[in-house]
Amino acid sequence: MAAVTTGEPGEASGCSVHRDDCLSHLKTMTSGVVDLAYLDPPFATGRTHRLHTRDRTTAYEFEDVWETPEAYASFLRERLVEIRRVLADSGCVFFHCGRGSGHVARCLLDEVFGPGRFRSEIIWHYRRWSSGSSGLLPAHQTIHYYTKTDSYVFNPIWDAYSPATNVDQLLQRRRRDAFDKSVYERDEQGRPVPGGAKRGVPMSDVWDLPHLNPKARERTGYPTQKPLVLLERIIALASRPGDLVLDPFCGSGTTLIAAAALGRRAIGVDVSEQAVALTRKRLENPVRSRSRLLERGREAYRKADPASLALLAGLDCVPVQRNAGIDAILEESHDGRPVVVRVQRPGEPLAEAAAKLRRAGAAHQASRLFLVVREPAEGPAPEGVELIESPAVAIARRIKADS
Ligand SMILES: C[S@@+](CC[C@H](N)C(=O)[O-])C[C@H]1O[C@@H](n2cnc3c(N)ncnc32)[C@H](O)[C@@H]1O
Repeated sequence: MAAVTTGEPGEASGCSVHRDDCLSHLKTMTSGVVDLAYLDPPFATGRTHRLHTRDRTTAYEFEDVWETPEAYASFLRERLVEIRRVLADSGCVFFHCGRGSGHVARCLLDEVFGPGRFRSEIIWHYRRWSSGSSGLLPAHQTIHYYTKTDSYVFNPIWDAYSPATNVDQLLQRRRRDAFDKSVYERDEQGRPVPGGAKRGVPMSDVWDLPHLNPKARERTGYPTQKPLVLLERIIALASRPGDLVLDPFCGSGTTLIAAAALGRRAIGVDVSEQAVALTRKRLENPVRSRSRLLERGREAYRKADPASLALLAGLDCVPVQRNAGIDAILEESHDGRPVVVRVQRPGEPLAEAAAKLRRAGAAHQASRLFLVVREPAEGPAPEGVELIESPAVAIARRIKADS
């Protein structure tokens, strides 16, 4: 059994953090004791990663500069060989890759673990906001999953069926006919035979999990910190309670926090003194961001009023989902500033609709503010706002004028 140290200040029982080059530390470990290894090493980006806490009292950094691609590959190879040695026969490794070095990791993993031990290439997909337009927006990271042998721990996770899936048909039992074609089984009366409970579809290798937003409570200020939800999914998928999880490049300690939350033991190693201190602090006082996105689903963010948006059909604009004052922003700006549009809500006084639009427009430094009027109004137009009558209001006004 590995020497799992406990009782250090700030360390949860069963978790230990060591300041060391992970190669030296791995060499002190007994063979075959680790059940799951997750590594998120430097990605060979050729730069020093720097970030700071929100209050700017602490700055963190780690270097990611390599003389040659061969030097980087040989750094990883030596450590992967040791990681494989300390893994139990039923153990596995998850290698988190950078954009520019995923191919290097895949070749090394094939070399050290064998191509036959490759299980999955996990694509961690997340939404990003960016105004840059040079090329495709990077919105995923890759995690290679390998096992040490063909007999390994795997706890299937099931996803809900897609709304397009015909679930009532899935619930019917199937059989192969004389031509080996899959057909629904029928009883003597020709009725479909129920197929028993269905748990959903096995989780795919594309994971849509939110990245840490700049204001997330969980964010420590450590560069390249990964979200707890990602590590929890990996650990839940491929280890059992009580198992030993290893992170040889633990950074801010995300893997250890996730392992402790799921009742696993964990060892973290990092060369940086700051990283080790931060990991200890987090173990002492784990902070988790609530992901409203995960709890409520992406659709819950579609707040725009469909009836209001219908009135803007045909306009080249981007609907705005989460702003009480603006319903859409025109794709074309005016004088280099945005043009914003709001639709008056049923029963909403014109002055109130205009005030909301003015406030939101000022916050976005809009050049023009258009308000679509849905209720006939008397009196002067509100200041600073251009009124556009909805078809219903325009027709009602003309009929009134003609009568
Ligand atoms: C990409 S970061 C890990 C971030 C981490 N997954 C998190 O969520 O915070 C890589 C880490 O590897 C550490 N590191 C670099 N070389 C190392 C080595 N030879 N042994 C151990 N740690 C090392 C760096 O100090 C850095 O903290």
